[in-house]
Amino acid sequence: MKQLQVGLEDRAYPILIREGLLSEVGEELKLRKIAKRYIIIADDHVAELFGGQLVESLRKVNIPVDLLTFPRGEASKNLTTIGRLISALAQLGVDRQDALIALGGGVTGDITGFAAAIYMRGIPFVQVPTTLLAQVDSSVGGKTGVDIPEGKNLVGCFYQPQAVFIDTLVLGQLPREELLNGLAEVVKYGVINDLDFFNFLLSNQKDILALEPAIVEAVIAHCCTIKARVVEADEREADLRRILNYGHTLGHAVEAASNFTIPHGMAISMGMVAVNTIAMGKGLLAAEKAQRIKDALQGFGLPVAIPPELDRCQMTELLKSDKKSVGGRPFFVLPIQIGKVIISDEVDDALIARAFG
Ligand code: GLY
Repeated sequence: MKQLQVGLEDRAYPILIREGLLSEVGEELKLRKIAKRYIIIADDHVAELFGGQLVESLRKVNIPVDLLTFPRGEASKNLTTIGRLISALAQLGVDRQDALIALGGGVTGDITGFAAAIYMRGIPFVQVPTTLLAQVDSSVGGKTGVDIPEGKNLVGCFYQPQAVFIDTLVLGQLPREELLNGLAEVVKYGVINDLDFFNFLLSNQKDILALEPAIVEAVIAHCCTIKARVVEADEREADLRRILNYGHTLGHAVEAASNFTIPHGMAISMGMVAVNTIAMGKGLLAAEKAQRIKDALQGFGLPVAIPPELDRCQMTELLKSDKKSVGGRPFFVLPIQIGKVIISDEVDDALIARAFG
């Protein structure tokens, strides 16, 4: 079992990582006295898989609990779902002494965090992430929000959870594609921050893919530690936190140009390899290091080439309209070594075209 802390003064919170933790969340909540009563929010699929186990863990320690669901998928991440959920909370008589539990992946964490942030001007919430991507990234750091027709994540706020409870056992139930999505983010942490961790990932690829419990726990704890340190230094993404977007600027354009048929992690894997081309083109990254990163991604079974059928002009336009672009200038997180990156918006169109391949 590993326990970490996100040190954000009065908004500090623990991250607990333990095999089988899902059945012990009730006891942890009892100890921590976050709220009197909890409302679990999950998509219908996750509710079926893990909802009963989580409800039971609260009931067995006499904590009142309800479960609210919404249809699975990114299409639910909108203001209509938020409206429905907060009406349901009002109908259940939820007040400020109660708290929400986000049980699920990134979509559920974003929706639940946002609902918690705006219901009665803010009630507490905790994260129980059930995908690798949510366990190593989205459940930590307090980004919440929903999509609108004009763009993804355009509405939302920073709102930190009271605790994050990570059960490594749930990963065994994930489809392989979900696991790969998370592994792209895991490799990202090595490249942006930690050569030793990158080397550890390479040496343990087989055990990681086989979900060997001690290795998986160590990997998740290491990623969460890096994320916590970055968020502590720059909670609202003014500066350092932008390094977490390594591979994401180009990757988001790939995702959007594919009409979101390419899953997030796969697109980020392609985006990391593509942005390395920019780093090499600017003379910042040695070809041999870019090759090591590519080999690591491929070793995990991640795709590294942007499909030729995706429209390069459309992707270039998408880059400029990305919500993180400033005045039409996208920024790029460029590795200069494995474990060290810089941020630059000085990349010309020819280099971007070369990166898209
Ligand atoms: N997933 C990037 C961040 O939390 O800043």
